[in-house]
Amino acid sequence: MRVLVTGGAGYIGSHTVLQLQAAGHEVVIADDFSNSKPSIVKRLVALSDEPVTVYTVDLTDELATERVFAEEQIDAVIHFAGFKAVGESVAEPLAYYRNNLDTAFSVLNAMNQHGVRTFVFSSSATVYGENAVRERTEDMPTSATNPYGWTKVMIEQVLRDLAAADDSWRIAILRYFNPVGAHASGEIGEDPSGKPNNLMPFVAQVAVGRREKLSVFGDDYDTPDGTGVRDYIHVEDLAAGHLAALEKVTASDDALSVWNLGSGHASSVLEVVASFARASGRDVPYEVLPRRAGDLPAYWADPSKANAELGWRATRTIDDMCEDTWRWQSKNPNGFPDVDE
Ligand code: UFG
Repeated sequence: MRVLVTGGAGYIGSHTVLQLQAAGHEVVIADDFSNSKPSIVKRLVALSDEPVTVYTVDLTDELATERVFAEEQIDAVIHFAGFKAVGESVAEPLAYYRNNLDTAFSVLNAMNQHGVRTFVFSSSATVYGENAVRERTEDMPTSATNPYGWTKVMIEQVLRDLAAADDSWRIAILRYFNPVGAHASGEIGEDPSGKPNNLMPFVAQVAVGRREKLSVFGDDYDTPDGTGVRDYIHVEDLAAGHLAALEKVTASDDALSVWNLGSGHASSVLEVVASFARASGRDVPYEVLPRRAGDLPAYWADPSKANAELGWRATRTIDDMCEDTWRWQSKNPNGFPDVDE
């Protein structure tokens, strides 16, 4: 297949691009590079030894998006592009609703115009909201606690309505838990701009000496060690889940399917810190601060639906995730270069 990967220069997108190519698919990337650096493209080409077509395009621009479909013979779309910082979404709700909804509308409209029917959507475990049951299953009701989360809930609803209106669609909604880790080469990985919001990149930057210490947001939760508990999933397992979902929906009779992509294992903040210290051989100094507004104590995936229906499962452990993150971070202490090497 010739697969359009929106946000293909981003963290999860880039790892998925390599796996798509390794599986024999052709890839077209559409990215505005607002949260990624163009220098990643050279790394992708070096790793895959294959050319990749890249469109630098603002996908909120319907005409520019449609042009990609007019110029390329696209068979399927994996839609990663979107804003994703929870705190920023609370401060700038209009920017989040406009960007995330408009990019989805542009891409779906262009797909409609060009008869492309296969769509894999980057959703999030955040759509489970504050459900009291910590182990999340796909049949739980969805809601959100911040504008970022609402954009995921809303786009999921748009997709359900689309599939109900026209059963020729083949849509996969993938709800990610906490993606971490990096490509085994250490050549690509997560490269947040500015101060990282998420635990793993922050821990990695402390270990490499870019930041003095980690702030642990709360140690008085109802969890075994009091710190927040999450289901971390290696980005390579996550990327493999996209391939499995793409292949499944292409062969399926269902217009829409939903799968959790998580490991089913839960780790606390302090367990991640200890694992990272082992992996890096460095100290990870931390201080305990009050809870972060909006954080939930603990939740993790029930991945059994994806395991059974996709023949996929997350295989890498939290130690693997920390080792690969460390390889990327220590080889690239400042992330991707600003200009091509
Ligand atoms: N944490 C710290 N210190 C930090 C950062 C995080 O203690 O500097 C803690 C948090 O309190 C939480 C855990 O580490 O207990 C994980 O926090 P992350 O920010 O890494 O991830 P979240 O679970 O808060 O959110 C992530 C994504 C969201 C997504 C959500 C889906 O960032 O985009 O998972 O489940 F919506």
